[in-house]
This record gives sequence, structure tokens and C-alpha cells, in this order.
Amino acid sequence: MFNVLAKRQLSEAVFEITVEAPEIARKVQAGQFLIIRATEDGERVPFTFSDWSAEEGWIKFIFMKVGKTSHLISHLERNDVIADVAGPLGNPTEIEDKSRIAVIGGGVGCAVAYPVARALCDAGAEVTVIMGARKGELLILKEEFEALPLKDFIIMTDDGSAGEKGLVTAPLGELCKNGELDNAFAVGPAIMMKFCAATTGEYGVPTAVSLNPIMVDGTGMCGACRVTVFGETKFGCVDGPDFDAAGVNWNELMTRQRLYQEEERVADAEYAGSCSCHI
Ligand SMILES: Cc1cc2nc3c(=O)[nH]c(=O)nc-3n(C[C@H](O)[C@H](O)[C@H](O)COP(=O)(O)OP(=O)(O)OC[C@H]3O[C@@H](n4cnc5c(N)ncnc54)[C@H](O)[C@@H]3O)c2cc1C
Ligand code: FES
Repeated sequence: MFNVLAKRQLSEAVFEITVEAPEIARKVQAGQFLIIRATEDGERVPFTFSDWSAEEGWIKFIFMKVGKTSHLISHLERNDVIADVAGPLGNPTEIEDKSRIAVIGGGVGCAVAYPVARALCDAGAEVTVIMGARKGELLILKEEFEALPLKDFIIMTDDGSAGEKGLVTAPLGELCKNGELDNAFAVGPAIMMKFCAATTGEYGVPTAVSLNPIMVDGTGMCGACRVTVFGETKFGCVDGPDFDAAGVNWNELMTRQRLYQEEERVADAEYAGSCSCHI
């Protein structure tokens, strides 16, 4: 059992949970993920570490309420417990120390972009963060990004309610065109990562993406998270979650992400019926 130390609501549907987990906190590196089971008979759900403290023995993850389990976790409060937390899982993000890099975070993907940007800044890289969301109120961790020694911090929203109106690919393309980037790292919805890859690919800027295929065991045994990269089958959990964006088969990834849509809809509807506080 893992104690919940705090819960913070970051936007209408996005929450941050802090969990007491000293053994895990000692080993985490930016880009890795955890798998939780909220209750002993619950499903296993992967989330990325958004922050941690080895000294104080806690970890944080940020998640969006999208279905049954994330709704359930959003109701946890301080002193509640989570049945299982497994991690750190997956490979840490490669941290280039001397490069000029763009870190692009879309929506809840900013929860992953933040520790990666922080690790790059700590290593001495020249970091430009491009943060995108559908609207201003969905932007998360703005103050945390602002506290980093970034070269530039660009905010893009679809409706122009914060930062500039437009997609993250617009400033990304400009940076590439002006020869200001050695590398890029993108995390967010698959469609956003696909278009970031196309943008940087045009200028030959190497780009890593953090993929989120459906996962079950997180240890390379079940095959649920398979993705095709440069024509080869890879497992998101043990070979990733970061991959070279130039080789990802995006259409296959997006099709596989929708594989259990109907089952997820039914589970969420059943849970909504049994829970009076479910929105
Ligand atoms: C490595 C990794 C890191 C992730 N990090 C985060 C994070 O930091 N914050 C966050 O909000 N989300 C993250 N996700 C996605 C998160 O795991 C899903 O949103 C979650 O499983 C939804 O569960 P649910 O029961 O609430 O919704 P469901 O109704 O089960 O599903 C809603 C959506 O989530 C997708 N999904 C469902 N189950 C899984 C699964 N086991 N693995 C991946 N996707 C799934 C579905 O395709 C669907 O689009 C990550 C996924 C992976 C693989
Ligand atoms: S989640 Fe089972 S092999 Fe990756």
C-alpha cells in the first residue's frame, strides 16, 4: 500500500498526485514511468513521473481524467492509499549536455516535458520549451517551466486564449529554419508528435518522442505496447518510451491506441453509474 501525501487539481480534468514511495524516488530519472493499481482488483495504468525527491521519499504524477481508472484516482485525497505502485519503468530520456534543444509538450504531455527540460537545463543544454494546449486554462506547470533557466518559453493555444494562436509546429518550424536547433524532444498526443516529427524531419533535426501505446505489464512480457520503428517491432515499455521520431509508424500507433475504445467506454459508463461524484 502506498500513501497519498497530496492531491492538486491543475485544470478542469488534470490532477497531480504525490505518493510516499522512498525506494522508487531514489532511482527515478527523467522520462521514466510508473504503473499503478488503484485498488487490489483494479487495472494497471501507466503514468510518467512528473517530479520526485530522493531526499524526502516522494514521487509525483500528473494525469488527465479520461476513463474509469483515472476518474477513480482523481477522487483520492491525502491519507488515502493506492494498492500498488511499480517503477521506475522504461528507459530514461537521453540527456544531451551541450546541445540546443527544443522540448515540446502538448496538453498533459507537459507533465513529461517538465522533468526532461529540467534535466537538460541541469546538464547545461540550451533549452527552448514550446508548450501547446487547446486553450489557456488547459496549460499546466507554467510556473514550474518559468522557474527554469530556459533560452525561450513559447506558449501556443489553438484558440489564442494564452500565448500565440496556433500549433506548436509553427515556432518549431521557425527554429529549425533559422538553424537554431541541434535536437528536439516531443511528448503529447500522437497526432501532435507525428506533425512535430514531420516538421523537424524536413530540416534533418534529430527528434526523440515519448510514446504512450496501450500498456499492460510494463515489463516486455505481454506485447500490448508494441510499436513499429524503422520497420522493426519494438516494445514501448522496455525499448522506450522514447524513440527516434523519424522511424515511428504513427498510423499504426494511433490505430492500436483505439483498440479497446468500446470496452473502455462501457467500463467508464458502468463506473459513472455507481459513483455519485463522477462527472
Ligand atoms: C508510458 C506511458 C506514460 C503515460 N503517462 C501519462 C501521464 O503522465 N499522464 C496521463 O494523463 N496519461 C499518461 N499515459 C496515458 C494513461 O496511461 C491513460 O490515459 C490511462 O491508462 C487511462 O486509463 P483510464 O482507465 O482512465 O481510461 P480508459 O477508459 O481505459 O482509456 C482512455 C484512453 O487512454 C488510453 N489507455 C487506456 N489504457 C491504457 C494503457 N494501459 N496504456 C496506455 N494508454 C491507455 C486509451 O487508448 C484511451 O484513449 C501514459 C501512458 C503510457 C503508456
Ligand atoms: S506493456 Fe507488456 S510488453 Fe510492454
